[in-house]
Amino acid sequence: MIRVAAVGDLHYDRKSENRIAPFLSDLSTTADLLLLAGDLTQIGHPEEMKVLAQDLKQCPIPIICVLGNHDYHSDKVAEISEILENEGIIVLEQNGITLTIGNIKVGIAGAKGFGGGFVGACGSDFGEQEMKEFMRHSRLEARNLETALKELHDVDYKIALLHYSPTAQTLSGERKEIYPFLGCYYLAEAVDYGMADIVFHGHAHNGIEKGKTPGGTPVRNVAQPVIRNPYNIYHLHPKEPQAKLESEFPQRVKQHDEKLI
Ligand SMILES: [Fe+2]
Ligand SMILES: [Fe+2]
Repeated sequence: MIRVAAVGDLHYDRKSENRIAPFLSDLSTTADLLLLAGDLTQIGHPEEMKVLAQDLKQCPIPIICVLGNHDYHSDKVAEISEILENEGIIVLEQNGITLTIGNIKVGIAGAKGFGGGFVGACGSDFGEQEMKEFMRHSRLEARNLETALKELHDVDYKIALLHYSPTAQTLSGERKEIYPFLGCYYLAEAVDYGMADIVFHGHAHNGIEKGKTPGGTPVRNVAQPVIRNPYNIYHLHPKEPQAKLESEFPQRVKQHDEKLI
């Protein structure tokens, strides 16, 4: 079993010092990994990220994160990523990492993702250059996420870590008009074809926690305004070894037995 603590949308500003730190120091008693699902800061300013990085020093377990749209706002992605990496925090963007926890190998592929909408109400790669660029960015994020998932070889469990949502199910409670800015079905295709076992995302502050992709992959929206906790902890059970035919659409078996405590 892998114990994952997950939260998104911390939205740290320069005055957020000590907001999450008190909940981190004994985290190793209840979790093996801490996943952060983007929007770590308000406007992506380095001073905001320094405050968060200082708090995260209290965390005794590996931290893996993706950035969110707020973190991109100041166009300082490289600088704020380096602030985290200097503290040993792994920042994923369209790539993956494998960690060994006990005798379990867990692979995590991460991407910010992007909007675009969901089947029946989505953008298309057609028309104005700006529209095409919007959808191409979304497709690129999804395609590279899928590649990163497929490159997680010989792992017992695959986690997809996103900021934007792969499904409309976890957006329930948000205004339908903004769904295309909250996620995209391209991400669900990437998750399903990449054979992820679970997805964590944020961004949808007014959504709900639980959903799944069309392929049946469990999706958890861990935006802090949704979970109303410093983080949630999930117990993930690697499934039995089974043939994975990447050329076929994954036929999933309900073996996740993922529990929220
Ligand atoms: Fe957010
Ligand atoms: Fe966001």
